[in-house]
Amino acid sequence: MKRFLIPLAACVLMAGCARTEPALKDVFAGTFILGTAINDAQIAGEDIKGDSVLIRHFAAIEPENCLKSGEVMPVFGQYDWILADKYVEFGEKYNLDVYGHTLIWHSQCTPDFCYDENGNLISPELLKERMKQHISTMVGRYKGHIKGWDVVNEAIMEDGSYRDSPFYRILGEEFIPWAFQCAYEADPNCELYYNDYSMHEPAKLDAVIAMAKKLKERGIRIDAIGFQGHMGMDYPDIDLYERHIRRVKEETGLDVCITELDMSILPTLTRSADLGAKPLSEADLNPYADGIPESVAKQWNDRMSAMLKMFIRNSDVVKRVNVWGVCDADNWKNNWPIPGRHDSPVWFDRNYKLKPFLREYIYGR
Ligand code: GLA
Repeated sequence: MKRFLIPLAACVLMAGCARTEPALKDVFAGTFILGTAINDAQIAGEDIKGDSVLIRHFAAIEPENCLKSGEVMPVFGQYDWILADKYVEFGEKYNLDVYGHTLIWHSQCTPDFCYDENGNLISPELLKERMKQHISTMVGRYKGHIKGWDVVNEAIMEDGSYRDSPFYRILGEEFIPWAFQCAYEADPNCELYYNDYSMHEPAKLDAVIAMAKKLKERGIRIDAIGFQGHMGMDYPDIDLYERHIRRVKEETGLDVCITELDMSILPTLTRSADLGAKPLSEADLNPYADGIPESVAKQWNDRMSAMLKMFIRNSDVVKRVNVWGVCDADNWKNNWPIPGRHDSPVWFDRNYKLKPFLREYIYGR
């Protein structure tokens, strides 16, 4: 295993100052590109501490929200470029790789993208035209500036069926190749990805692989599959996840990016189908409101450490790991499914302290 070796003298010198860690992007350079999600406040320069940690430790950024169609284009054809442009400028100013997320997604989607003025689904021809217009506008505007795009997000379900989204209802499976083709035409040098969650589900993986193979057979560009790394303490099984990462490479030749890595420390909530079951209480939903027990924090660190080591030993396939938020406070899981939860899913805590599993990895203790 590769380690970042720091000369003893440097450790002694660093021990006395606040910045004791090397930059994470340097620790993982040559293994994978380390990125993070950046939120609107960080893009706008309103989170000075968050920005400084981001710039120091990460090599790449993906926007949490500002490039989603519903954000950048509140009404079809009417764009508000303020934050989107700032996002790209931020990345370039600090010499970060800038990624695009996401062009076609059923959620956070422009409300009238797929509907006419009466609220009916538009025709297949019109949707193709609109998709081309949106994709070529987005990809074209940032041509040469955005290195890779999540072209389609979350189109396939856990059971391997296609999601019944408006895009699918109008165009069937064909909306995916069409989106990739439009993106390629707008910037032939840009990397193009399909991005989805629950990639540990076998039927879902099978369907994603089949879809990617069809694109390749038709000569349509696709570079990698994004595994959204939204995880819990009890899923996914790390060995299974590893097998699935390898299957992507073996069966399609594509790389994998871990695109939205966050491992919730809170117990996974399963809603019982039994109607008589007790509803989940505030305490069930937010069990560590007064602080995370040490034993639980240790379990999280052990599991994230094992996950990281798995990414590293598969770095011939895993080309980028993108943590979903700079520090714990930034992550969406604090506010889902109810606001105000106290989660601890990413690599820096609320005080921007590196989690123990990383300190252990860096210093080997
Ligand atoms: C999905 C999307 C992300 C984000 C998360 C929840 O994974 O791809 O952009 O919205 O949901 O925050």
